[in-house]
Amino acid sequence: MAYYSDELIDEVISQNDIVEVVSEYVTLKKSGRNYTGLCPFHREKTPSFIVSMDKQIFKCFGCSEGGNVISFIMKLEKLDFWESVLFLANRAHVDTSKYEIKTSFSNNKEEVKKDLKEVLYKLNKDAALYYHEALVEKLEEKTNLVKDYIIKRKFDKNVIRKFGVGFGRGTIPLFDYLKNKGYSSEEIFASGIIIEKAGSLKHYDRFDSRLIFPIFDIRDRVIGFGGRVLDNSLPKYVNSPENEIYSKGKNLYALNFAKKENLESIIMVEGYMDALSLHKNNINNVVASLGTALTESQARLLKRFTDKIIIAYDQDSAGQEAILRGLDILTDKSLNVKVLKLDKEDAKDPDEYINKYGVERFQHCVNNSISLVEFKVSKLEKELDLNNIDSKIKFLTQTANILSKIENNIERDIYIDKISEKYKIGRGPILKEIEKRLNKNDSKNEVIDTSLLNKKIHIGSSVRKRQEQYIIALLLSKDLKIQKQIFESISVQEIEDESVKDLYNTIIGISKNFDINKIDILSRLRSEEQIKELTEVMYLDISNVDKVKMLNDILSNKKKEKFRLRRDEIIQRIGQNITKDEEEVLQFELNQIILELSKLK
Ligand code: GTP
Ligand code: MN
Repeated sequence: MAYYSDELIDEVISQNDIVEVVSEYVTLKKSGRNYTGLCPFHREKTPSFIVSMDKQIFKCFGCSEGGNVISFIMKLEKLDFWESVLFLANRAHVDTSKYEIKTSFSNNKEEVKKDLKEVLYKLNKDAALYYHEALVEKLEEKTNLVKDYIIKRKFDKNVIRKFGVGFGRGTIPLFDYLKNKGYSSEEIFASGIIIEKAGSLKHYDRFDSRLIFPIFDIRDRVIGFGGRVLDNSLPKYVNSPENEIYSKGKNLYALNFAKKENLESIIMVEGYMDALSLHKNNINNVVASLGTALTESQARLLKRFTDKIIIAYDQDSAGQEAILRGLDILTDKSLNVKVLKLDKEDAKDPDEYINKYGVERFQHCVNNSISLVEFKVSKLEKELDLNNIDSKIKFLTQTANILSKIENNIERDIYIDKISEKYKIGRGPILKEIEKRLNKNDSKNEVIDTSLLNKKIHIGSSVRKRQEQYIIALLLSKDLKIQKQIFESISVQEIEDESVKDLYNTIIGISKNFDINKIDILSRLRSEEQIKELTEVMYLDISNVDKVKMLNDILSNKKKEKFRLRRDEIIQRIGQNITKDEEEVLQFELNQIILELSKLK
């Protein structure tokens, strides 16, 4: 068997939705945010097998099997790890040859075979260089329309280079340039950048005389182009057609750059110009959806890199409607979504806003971005005249619809307060309306009682294990500050539960080679015990927990326990036959410990 790079694992995971894969073997029923069914790994009459779409894992509460889509296939098809990866790659039509690691043993036949995809990647890259070179030449001239436009739109030299911005007409025709590079006419037409005129030998450049934005995939390959006119003619933009390597619904513009950042959040804008403008101002955690409706595949892609999306779409009604359409797709993937509002009427998108009002003020808007619920309610407010009684009633009922969909009780309560105050509607009526809509069978999210961690100083081993599992959960919560604090303050030896210790040790090892926020940790584990342990951890929901406080509570508990242990040891030792000198030293240490303990209470 050939060897493959770890990137294939991530690709396979992102292309195989666990719910779909499991459904091919088990009849699943939707239940709240999860799916349940009869466990395929042990005999049972009532379902205790759960698949989480958000977390892309499965777990059986009967036989304790658990893992991700790869572990599922390993167990069910009885394949080893890489066989399962290839099985799933095949299922999702992932081209594995791209991930093959060439060793001196691999045979050359496959390398000789010219793959159209590989050719298209190369051809696009050559075309991108042609376009970029053409723009550079224009900018070197004293004056011309292209240069005027670049100046008018305040393009930045570094950004032009970084994004490979180009111009669609060079000194020699693009077709001749590509021919000279050795591409066949068929290959050139397959790329879509030059279009063949049916029934004649003529052809024309799709992006002729347009400003060119190469579109990269997350591995920095040029998969297509967007081209803008330099004036007001239509269509304003044209894009590469869908082909072997370009699929607009599976990609997000600038994600290849954004993924190199620390992604506590990603700002999503609509247009090329917005993405470039933010990058010019060193806001690099930006992607653009390029004016099309978000797809599930794009949401899954985002989820690999972050948990929080800030939508900064155009302020016109089309942009606002686009936000609404994209929302459910994002929240369905458990992404925390915020909506950014530009606080000036005369700047319709982030690019215009920044050019007019500066980046600091834009950053301020980012910090003030509102939650989805607030966005939906304020949209309602805009549409309805609240001075009119009928409209106000409509507002109340529709607001109740929105609020009743919030699963977390505390969060819902906070919104009820806010809305009741802001719109001068009593809490009582809002509550009544919501209760009417709420299902009796409330979702049973595990509620974490952090105070429990504080109550007992002598904690039992199961509580300790839970506490240590929360350390792992916090570690994987994509919060860089928390991660740093954990790695710095908790050594492997300090974890007492053997199974969690083993897992923690392995994650530390993985984090030396990979950014643990950007890979699927589950599939980097090879021990079944570790996979089960991590699956259990992933079912701990800490999305609404104050993570800083939780970690501090755990750390202080650990410290307390250590001191108490040592204290008991000393007291026991002092009770035995020891020398005066030793007793003095121990007594001193004991006093210190008692002092420390009193500080920690
Ligand atoms: P400027 O108008 O130059 O500031 O560009 P923009 O990026 O702000 O464009 P706009 O807000 O109008 O549209 C957002 C995105 O939608 C663009 O970046 C394009 O990706 C896409 N888009 C806009 N107009 C067209 C069009 O006519 N055809 C296609 N295919 N895409 C378009
Ligand atoms: Mn714009």
